[in-house]
Amino acid sequence: MNSQDKLIVFDTTLRDGEQSPGASMNKDEKIRIAKMLEKMRVDIIEAGFPVASPGDFESVRAVAETIQNSTVCALARALNKDIDRAGEALAGGKSTRIHTFIATSPIHMKHKLRMQPDQVVEQAVAAVKRARKFTDNIEFSPEDAGRSEFDFLCRIIEATIKAGAGTINIPDTVGYNIPSQFGELIKRLIETIPNADKAVFSVHCHNDLGLAVANSLAAIMNGARQVECTINGLGERAGNAALEEVVMAVATRQDVFQCKTDIDTTQIVTGSKLVANITGFAVQPNKAIVGVNAFAHESGIHQDGVIKSRETYEIMRAQDVGWSDNRMVLGKHSGRNAFRARLTALGVEFKSEEDLNEAFAKFKVLADKKHEIFDEDIQALVTETTQTIANERIKLVSLRVCSETGETPCSRIILNIDGEEQQSVSEGDGTVDASFKAINKIVNSGTELQLYSVNNITSGTDSQGEVTVRLQKNGSIVNGQGADTDIVIASVKAYVNALNKIMEPVDRKHPQSSNL
Ligand code: KIV
Ligand code: ZN
Repeated sequence: MNSQDKLIVFDTTLRDGEQSPGASMNKDEKIRIAKMLEKMRVDIIEAGFPVASPGDFESVRAVAETIQNSTVCALARALNKDIDRAGEALAGGKSTRIHTFIATSPIHMKHKLRMQPDQVVEQAVAAVKRARKFTDNIEFSPEDAGRSEFDFLCRIIEATIKAGAGTINIPDTVGYNIPSQFGELIKRLIETIPNADKAVFSVHCHNDLGLAVANSLAAIMNGARQVECTINGLGERAGNAALEEVVMAVATRQDVFQCKTDIDTTQIVTGSKLVANITGFAVQPNKAIVGVNAFAHESGIHQDGVIKSRETYEIMRAQDVGWSDNRMVLGKHSGRNAFRARLTALGVEFKSEEDLNEAFAKFKVLADKKHEIFDEDIQALVTETTQTIANERIKLVSLRVCSETGETPCSRIILNIDGEEQQSVSEGDGTVDASFKAINKIVNSGTELQLYSVNNITSGTDSQGEVTVRLQKNGSIVNGQGADTDIVIASVKAYVNALNKIMEPVDRKHPQSSNL
């Protein structure tokens, strides 16, 4: 180990990140995020769990066919059908990896798998061998390693390395560990397992106790050379280790870490905004690295210090993670070429000229309403253009709302449903509530509203409001987005988008379910 060691960055935003309820993404959204991760120089992109559903399979296949400079990985339980499906989805990829896993903690083996430890080892070894028929690049994870018995972990890891796994990932699946203990675990595993030098040790930490990043860093200090993480820390329950935090900790504290990543850190903020925009999971203002306040100095003493010498209160440069003061702004006089150039700089490519034209037309409409168009506006606009789902059955035709002091707010809406226009009127507690009620009179969706959130995309009263609506029906959860300078219209767009998505429910398997 020395300071030249490379720390492999394995991003699982598209797989574990997508397991956050409501963060599901469609194929085009996944391709957009994958391209951004490639631009950020992430080493490995875990694109999904192909056996989960035909849609998941297609998304992994599309990402594998698109990405050229990062390795694309697919997740598979230690089951033949999962591994074959993963292998098939990755077939068109340039550099690919299969990540297979099985639970190893006593509690998981007994209650979830209902298997004896010997059977678990046998199945893990068989899975690694089968995966090798598709690629030489195999990762094995003993799920819930953080609560597994040390001797059993050593046994299964030794056997899977022998079977051909080149990466051994140690997941703290339920976020139970604390840094000193987790670092020690990694150190002991590397020291004890006879063939440990034949594999790269990786970690995958969940944030249930808010320790995912701390545990990952402790593991890196103790020999882990791959870290699994997600943009904005998205992921199952409390999420995974945040990529931006791990990467910037390693970059900033080179006196402590004996390794380096290849990440282009100047892409971090763009990546964070893209993921927030697509998933509707807003970033808290005080979030490290990517929160809007991360580099803002409020107190006079701090401001004075930073003006005299930046290092007084800043340990990183805002520009190094992609915050920039002189942001390029477009306006109503900007032409198609300037618009296209800005899209290219943001890593957005449209599949066809028609899609570009549609986005440009929307840009012109927005530019008429809003003086300055920022990168965040463009991202929202691209999301709106690309998220149009294949069989969009409901379209907003027009909306009229009335709001007056002392009067009950009301809304009149016209929707086009399956090609036929339908109108409805409703009153409500506010104009948004009235509009949603009017929509429901027509659609009668039977959905439950789980989340309604409004964020201003940029500052100023002419900013676009970006609305996320999360709906639930029969266990299926979708996220709809809409953006507009008028927040009632943005809300209606988001609601209609969510309704369209929920009309196409998909039967997806969860990778960590007991249903083997
Ligand atoms: O948290 C976990 O254990 C996982 C595995 C599939 C690696 O996500
Ligand atoms: Zn996980």
